[in-house]
Amino acid sequence: MLNLFKPRPTSYAVSLSDTETTFTVKRGESLLSSALSAGIKWPFKCKVGSCGTCKCQLIDGKIKAQLDFGYVLDMSEIQDGYILACQSILKSDIQVSVNLTK
Ligand code: FES
Repeated sequence: MLNLFKPRPTSYAVSLSDTETTFTVKRGESLLSSALSAGIKWPFKCKVGSCGTCKCQLIDGKIKAQLDFGYVLDMSEIQDGYILACQSILKSDIQVSVNLTK
């Protein structure tokens, strides 16, 4: 029998480009909250999608935006794959590039 309802993964893997760092994001959690829970010094201020501090570049994979990034990011950033980590829900394993805080 054909199964049309494949179980979805309960979490996805994130790898940070140019580092050995990886962490997991539970389904439905934001990229930023999972990074912070994993102890990663990801830059952020507002956590609600208004400051742009948490932006990172999506290198590979799929996310779902919780709001229109166009309110904060300019068109060239969006075309270059920049996303807001606090407003991104993963739809696959991803690779991102981010400038971590020291
Ligand atoms: S922390 Fe402000 S936009 Fe994400």
